[in-house]
Amino acid sequence: MNLFDVYSLFDVTPVKGLGCHIWDDKGTEYLDLYGGHAVISVGHCHPRYVAALNDQIDRIGFYSNSVRNPLQERLATLVGELSGYGDYSLFLANSGAEANENALKLASFHTGKDRIVAFRHSFHGRTSGAVAVTDNPAIVSPFNSNHKVTFLPLGDSAAVEAELAKGDVAGVIIEGIQGVGGINIPEDSFFRELRELCTRYGVVLILDEVQSGYGRTGKFFAHQWAGIRPDLISMAKGMANGFPIGGVLISPAFKASKGLLGTTFGGNYLAMAAAIAVAEIIRDERLMDNAAAVGKWLTDNIPQSPLIKEVRGRGLMMGIDFTVPVAPIRSALLYDKHIFTGVSGKGMIRLLAPLTLSVPEASQFVSALGEILDNQ
Ligand SMILES: Cc1ncc(COP(=O)(O)O)c(C=O)c1O
Repeated sequence: MNLFDVYSLFDVTPVKGLGCHIWDDKGTEYLDLYGGHAVISVGHCHPRYVAALNDQIDRIGFYSNSVRNPLQERLATLVGELSGYGDYSLFLANSGAEANENALKLASFHTGKDRIVAFRHSFHGRTSGAVAVTDNPAIVSPFNSNHKVTFLPLGDSAAVEAELAKGDVAGVIIEGIQGVGGINIPEDSFFRELRELCTRYGVVLILDEVQSGYGRTGKFFAHQWAGIRPDLISMAKGMANGFPIGGVLISPAFKASKGLLGTTFGGNYLAMAAAIAVAEIIRDERLMDNAAAVGKWLTDNIPQSPLIKEVRGRGLMMGIDFTVPVAPIRSALLYDKHIFTGVSGKGMIRLLAPLTLSVPEASQFVSALGEILDNQ
């Protein structure tokens, strides 16, 4: 049987990882500034993380959500402490798209309404509701598009107000920073206007922090730079360093009812052991501070070049916006310099390194990029 061919593949087969480094099946070492797409938050094979998973699989690997699971409660406490959202509740799922599905469902259930406002260039996942609020017709089927969604320009609060004033909107969904769409950072003032409009019109504000959250920008969630508190916050990628997981933080205004949300695997023991280890490592190693400091160092040291339009981002969520297609630059980084990077569209190199990245590792990238640009 073949695999269903849906991914564009690098010509590298990783077999080992440690910290910000990966080795392939031929023994070649790579610097990982892609973090497996923002997932590797505490570095590959962090010893505390490995020990926590080994220890848990030795005790009990799985039981259903029909029994009390103290590990879930421990994770909720830790996330509350790290994020400052200790008064919210946590619902645990298995992926970013699933977290968003549950957030959209809660918004609709809570308001009794069914229309959602989303933003141009958004990406929220590939399941039915999540892809319906994603601004990319190439990945939406007719079945998925059977939802009431209105896409507005990011930053246009007058357009948001005009939609909310119609009275039929359940929720507004927005990424903390648009990742797939090209590291588009909403203005702090726009976040504050959104908060005010959602409160005024009784609409649920959903922050998708699946990529921008979990310490990546130097604060626990990217929207915290604007000082707002959304009603629902979805998260996933960095939560368990590669163990599948997702979650929704739910404000105290939402009432739970038995059976409304649920999942077989969400909150399972192994995912909890992984996520607890990650949260403790982020706390104990002050990785949010590191992300802020090394991210600033990188932004300040990206080489000047007529091929680079702009460097934008926060902490270790960064885009280098080029005036030319980046495919050859990314290939040279990977195959000649042995550095993994991501992209956004055709013109942007996207950096989503582990939060443990050091300045010497960042400077290896800066030198490599400088050499590649000199030869363009
Ligand atoms: C902002 C955002 N939301 C949701 C998702 C979907 O997450 P998952 O692939 O875990 O379903 C992604 C994945 O890239 C994302 O970047």
